[in-house]
Amino acid sequence: MKIRLGDLPVTLDTGNLEPNVCPEMVDARSYLVDAAAENLRSGKCLGSGFLGWLNPGEILSSSERARLAACAQRLRDNSDVLLVIGIGGSYLGARAVIEALSDDPDRVVYAGHNVSAHYMTRLRKQLSGKRVAINVISKSGTTTEPAIAFRVMRDLVSEADQARLIVATTDVGEGALLKQARTAGYETFVVPEDIGGRFSVFSASGLIPIAYSGVDIDSLVSGAVRSAAACANPNLSENPAYHYGCARKLLYDQGFVIELLAAFEPRLHFVTKWWKQLFGESEGKDNCGVFPDSMDFSTDLHSLGQYIQQGRRMIFETFIAVEEAEVSLEIPGWEIDSDGMNYLAGKQVNYVNSKIYEAAAMAHREGGTPNMSICLEQLNAETLGALLYFFEIACGVGGLLMGVNPFDQPGVESYKKHMFRLLGKP
Ligand code: PA5
Repeated sequence: MKIRLGDLPVTLDTGNLEPNVCPEMVDARSYLVDAAAENLRSGKCLGSGFLGWLNPGEILSSSERARLAACAQRLRDNSDVLLVIGIGGSYLGARAVIEALSDDPDRVVYAGHNVSAHYMTRLRKQLSGKRVAINVISKSGTTTEPAIAFRVMRDLVSEADQARLIVATTDVGEGALLKQARTAGYETFVVPEDIGGRFSVFSASGLIPIAYSGVDIDSLVSGAVRSAAACANPNLSENPAYHYGCARKLLYDQGFVIELLAAFEPRLHFVTKWWKQLFGESEGKDNCGVFPDSMDFSTDLHSLGQYIQQGRRMIFETFIAVEEAEVSLEIPGWEIDSDGMNYLAGKQVNYVNSKIYEAAAMAHREGGTPNMSICLEQLNAETLGALLYFFEIACGVGGLLMGVNPFDQPGVESYKKHMFRLLGKP
């Protein structure tokens, strides 16, 4: 079955889920999906205080969007590189979009997602002599990893420039970062109270670095808005996001407890990382949830491909397939066919990549790994915005189908308690 995302060039193909999941099986559960979707949309669900992401076009007012765009432009005009400091939901959305779409992704670098002296020292060396701007992002304003990175890295911006070239994205009314920003005179942007980090890519948390990187944030948000309209369709057979959420639950109930999101484009690596956090943090609680992991194909076909084909049957896959090649690259013919590859001479590299995708989907299905595909006719700001929102709504509805609160993350706190004790935090 193929279900298009409204009139966007994005389609969910569930053909390779059969016989584990057939359209009739999904239909038979439409009353459950309807109830979950209705509870979500009417704000009666678990975690209803965190639904600010539902309408992506309304997260920022037009004046805030204009201020944000002007700020990103000012940083861009006055620096060679933007250092984004944040962890989890406070950096993955931005990185996912930038690595996927920016023509110059190396102009944005990241810290605060680890506490590695080696990483930060190497980054400092890499940035020495460059004009650096910093966007420090922490909703709580108190997360240890980015706070340490900010301490270590702040002097990359000279004291005289800090008020102009350091921007803080944080909570509206409290937190150490907000106080610091007010004292030092940094421009600040808000992560709305009702949006959790992993759902914050269309807020200032994602949009400042994305705008800095040169990606068109209006198209990105417009894709999300169009996706939101398509995903509001209550008819399950016309709503790919609800269908995806329901198919995952059906597979989970059959013992397929691991989902691999695989892309065939290295530039989608961080989209799959973002997705992993979205689903893992939303569903993995109360002793249940699909375990989300991500794959880069072909790379992982030559390592975990073996397990996927013949290992324990508990894995299903979701592929992100981009149909239209943006770059044309032809395989050259050789006079002497020493490697036996002349049968592909003159073909596009992307043609081979697309056949690898088809072959993996077929082989894995035959081996007992059900799989589905999300096909993007093109990869651009609009289709990526649409895809990210598709996953957000599927995750919200899917988490409710799973019976958990998809919008909290109480488990993340446990290591922090031990860490604070070990560090002797007063
Ligand atoms: O999704 C989440 O809520 C988390 O990943 C947070 O974004 C992450 O822990 C960072 O938190 P904060 O933005 O408060 O620094």
